[in-house]
Amino acid sequence: MPTARAYRIAPSILSADFARLGDELRDVIAAGADWIHFDVMDNHYVPNLSFGPMVCEALRKHAVKADGTKVPIDVHLMVQPVDALAVAFARAGADRISFHPAASAHVDRTIQLIRAEGCSAGLVFNPAASLDELEWTLDQIDLVLVMSVNPGFGGQSFIPGALKKIERMRTLIDAHRQETGHDIQLEVDGGIKVDNIRAAADAGADTFVAGSAIFGQPDYGAVIAAMRARLAG
Ligand code: DX5
Ligand code: ZN
Repeated sequence: MPTARAYRIAPSILSADFARLGDELRDVIAAGADWIHFDVMDNHYVPNLSFGPMVCEALRKHAVKADGTKVPIDVHLMVQPVDALAVAFARAGADRISFHPAASAHVDRTIQLIRAEGCSAGLVFNPAASLDELEWTLDQIDLVLVMSVNPGFGGQSFIPGALKKIERMRTLIDAHRQETGHDIQLEVDGGIKVDNIRAAADAGADTFVAGSAIFGQPDYGAVIAAMRARLAG
């Protein structure tokens, strides 16, 4: 049942104030972030440019809670080619690295590269992408990320069709877990707000990326608390 699931909120620093990223990271962690979502755009796979592994390296020391616990850095690669940057991010402190299968010439190889670096590996599915790659990768991935906007920009509106894709993913993930014992996290990314987070959870998501919804408000803690209240209610 969805209510029995552990939910994670992963603020995307794409919508943070780039002039003070370290402070933003610490503030959003103090506000209750479970993971930090790191949107990497290359102006090739997507029509926008964000930040690279050097920024991740600089921020990694800020990805800790007040009690010293590490907060996972969840890297979402929107780049092509993938492999060299995946390795660079692993070495720059990433904990989870997800990529779009269409951006990699050899999806299985890219997954192996990420895991060999000690990171969790994830596949990302765009709104119109089919789920073909999943069948042969389920046993090797730790995370599936369903895009609920077209990748490239923060602040877009949630595409409702993503809910069906989340449901489909949830069915596949649950069947795979029952068969093998291997569990996979199911993350949704794009246009997540207080008002629609519950629908995404009911469809089967357990991890929620939110950029503009959190960083667009003065009180990050209030937004995250409101999201958790919707997830609990
Ligand atoms: C889009 C990114 C998202 C985005 C989320 O390419 O993958 O992570 O920044 O931002 P919001 O929550 O504003 O849609
Ligand atoms: Zn993202």
